[in-house]
Amino acid sequence: MAIEFLGIENSDCLLYFLRITGLLLPVTNRGWIVSPSHQVRSRNLRHAASNATITQHVEIFRVRLRRSRESFRVFHLYTPLQVYEDSSASSHAKIPHRDHCVTMKKMQIVKVQTPSAQYQIFAGTGLIDTLEARMTRILAALGRKLPKRLFILTSPEIWDLWSKRILSSFTNTPTILLLPAGERHKNLRSVEKLLREMAKAGGDRSSILIAFGGGIVGDVGGFVASSFMRGIDFFQVPSTFLSQVDSSVGGKVGVNLPEGKNLVGAFHHPLAVFADMELLNTLPDRELRAGLFESVKAGMIRDRALLRFMEENSARILGRDTASLEKVIAASIRMKADVVSKDERENGLRMILNLGHTLGHAIESVTGYRKLLHGEAVGWGIIAALHLGRKRRTISEAQFDRLMGLVYLYGPLPALKLNPQRLVDASAKDKKHRGDVRRFILPVGIGDATVVEDVTTDELLEAARYMLALAKALPEQVEVKVLAAHG
Ligand SMILES: NC(=O)c1ccc[n+]([C@@H]2O[C@H](COP(=O)([O-])OP(=O)(O)OC[C@H]3O[C@@H](n4cnc5c(N)ncnc54)[C@H](O)[C@@H]3O)[C@@H](O)[C@H]2O)c1
Repeated sequence: MAIEFLGIENSDCLLYFLRITGLLLPVTNRGWIVSPSHQVRSRNLRHAASNATITQHVEIFRVRLRRSRESFRVFHLYTPLQVYEDSSASSHAKIPHRDHCVTMKKMQIVKVQTPSAQYQIFAGTGLIDTLEARMTRILAALGRKLPKRLFILTSPEIWDLWSKRILSSFTNTPTILLLPAGERHKNLRSVEKLLREMAKAGGDRSSILIAFGGGIVGDVGGFVASSFMRGIDFFQVPSTFLSQVDSSVGGKVGVNLPEGKNLVGAFHHPLAVFADMELLNTLPDRELRAGLFESVKAGMIRDRALLRFMEENSARILGRDTASLEKVIAASIRMKADVVSKDERENGLRMILNLGHTLGHAIESVTGYRKLLHGEAVGWGIIAALHLGRKRRTISEAQFDRLMGLVYLYGPLPALKLNPQRLVDASAKDKKHRGDVRRFILPVGIGDATVVEDVTTDELLEAARYMLALAKALPEQVEVKVLAAHG
């Protein structure tokens, strides 16, 4: 758990905090300097930013102060001071006058630790205003500096909405690369175009790419980063719900082929993920709902508490209540980070993250990636998996009803008219399959899942038929109890 002071509007509070933590001593009225004999004294501090990092912040602060009052205000408002405290959440309550610290914010920090990478995912607000300082700090911990050439990959509509806020955090404007929105642009042609733009702009091996957008920008950006000059570092700044809870975590990056989804790619982890919930303010409701199906999945496969929370708080979550969304985002990220940390390369456990994806990907491919959003296709895929789970008795009828109820709470899913056989044929290209072995993820009870390798074509066809029978009707008109009768 971390406490973060962002947007501090009360300088007394900042001063007080600096004094009790012993981090910085204010010595002149022009800025802060680091005490040369600085020692971290507070017992609450398990890990404090290194002196080098603090000095950098101080330097940025002083330079901006000298340049203009305007920049002074910006810096003053977004001083990215961060201290990590021990697990006793009460220690921040010991800071007196905390009520005067108008914008003291909690930040969720989740670690991913795999054999090939170790990084943090930050989830909270105010992150996009402090990107440069945050990246500088992360690089400093690796003994590196922010490179001369920074690239931001984003989509035009996201950039229109957020460029001012993002750019305000940078001393030098990064090179902006644009990828049009839509799954049909997640392909090798886009990758080549972006790689060439980077080469023309003078990118080299020290360049860093920031993938700022939804899952498509993250997947394409990560793949571009994995291949430019045989691999450069990148940061993820996910801007959709789905990308914050799922796609930005775990290092899977790549693009689609006409033959199937995500068939080309790499494992390439970011140096950090900054999931700023404020970005969701401009996200259309349909995108939010679609993304929530990845959290529904997270609850079903591994987190009963999340599942229950999503059952009991759907109105708040769909109404974008900040605290409720934060809870869902943090729990989903934690679940995925935990699974990825245990099985980075999807040799076993990580496969359970694909609940609903076998038929979900098939729906996307058969409909040319145009009709449904990814999360919606996964929603329908989950319904097929629940049906198969009930048939194979990995879940009881009562559990089936409960889990279907949860899916419908986050609907409506768009209606769909497809040929079941076409779906089953399309699912044969699933990346989880090995030779003739077809792998399928089944729910097990509430909050667990398993990978099975003996699902027959007939079983899959029946699950697809069941799902499509529901998908023909407008789902919001279908009662959950009626659904159970279909089995
Ligand atoms: N790598 C992984 O582990 C992983 C996991 C799950 C999904 N994915 C991939 O993620 C992709 C889907 O991602 P997605 O659902 O984020 O879709 P997306 O990237 O297509 O974004 C959805 C839409 O929202 C717009 N948008 C993004 N942020 C916005 C904002 N803050 N305000 C307003 N509009 C905004 C985008 O421009 C786009 O039009 C799929 O390609 C899927 O395969 C990858």
